[in-house]
Amino acid sequence: MDLYEYQGKELFKRVGIPVSDGRRADTPQEARAAAQELGGAVVVKAQVLTGGRGKAGGVKLAEGADDTEQKAKDILGLDINGHIVRRLWIERASDIAKEYYLSITFDRGAKKPLFMFTTQGGVEIEQVAEENPDALIRLHVDPLEGYQPWIARRLVYGAKVEDPSEQKQIAAIVEKLYRAFVEFDAMLCEINPLIVTPDGEVKALDSKFTVDDSALFRHPDIAEWRDTTAADPIEAFAREKGVTYVKLDGDVGICGNGAGLSMSTVDVVAHVGGRPANFWHHALRRGRARDPRGTRAARHVEVPDRRPPRRHQR
Ligand SMILES: Nc1ncnc2c1ncn2[C@@H]1O[C@H](COP(=O)(O)OP(=O)(O)O)[C@@H](O)[C@H]1O
Ligand SMILES: [Mg+2]
Repeated sequence: MDLYEYQGKELFKRVGIPVSDGRRADTPQEARAAAQELGGAVVVKAQVLTGGRGKAGGVKLAEGADDTEQKAKDILGLDINGHIVRRLWIERASDIAKEYYLSITFDRGAKKPLFMFTTQGGVEIEQVAEENPDALIRLHVDPLEGYQPWIARRLVYGAKVEDPSEQKQIAAIVEKLYRAFVEFDAMLCEINPLIVTPDGEVKALDSKFTVDDSALFRHPDIAEWRDTTAADPIEAFAREKGVTYVKLDGDVGICGNGAGLSMSTVDVVAHVGGRPANFWHHALRRGRARDPRGTRAARHVEVPDRRPPRRHQR
């Protein structure tokens, strides 16, 4: 489950990672009230589950209540990479001296969490990896050893952060980010940018946070944050019935018992020239595989996804 920026920042706050004070707003009037409460310059930020909001005009600096209301009007309703803006986050504006990048995610190949850190933040990390790979410090964490202080030291020295106060603050954030990653069963925690203010204060200005769906039962408060209005209606229905459903763009419906069989069937259908419309399977949790309720529910999932058949060329 992908979290909105403000939700990810709420989790950052819980583990002690510094973030800016802010308020949720869904209307220009609420944005105005938020600006009045916060006082001073604020930033109006589109809350959509996609990156690159800044470039798309979804992040704007505002000065005072009138300006904030106007910027909120401009941003609400924007289409950012196919996501319509319906929520805003209004937060105190920060002065920025430097923009860094810090993340932790799973490296499935290595079967370990992977930290990535660079002082070349603020841009897409793929761009840094491509253009300036030496500037991107990558470091695995042995899950059995857990977090060790040398991990943060190697990241900050590797990326050539020289200021001792910065080193100390970043090291503390690295440790807290690892704690957030483990405690909230995350798949990804990314801070881009992690800024340094002109006063030398380090804080998280953005958050990208993905929680493992299979662990949501351990975090009922986070599970409640799911925005069902943003989800595909069939996917939402499938989830409610405990069925995994993936929409594809062909016209052959595929039902399997477990992800492995479903995926193989998708391959076989594609191999003989068909185009899968979707595939679904119900979770193979213990005792669930033989539970006919999942299969029955899954059949209902297929119904709303019926489209007229198309002929296939072999
Ligand atoms: N509170 C803030 N104060 C000042 N500048 C901000 C603030 N939040 C974001 N920005 C600026 O806007 C840029 C984009 O914001 P960000 O939250 O990273 O969105 P995205 O990654 O989706 O573009 C940041 O790199 C930063 O320069
Ligand atoms: Mg960002």
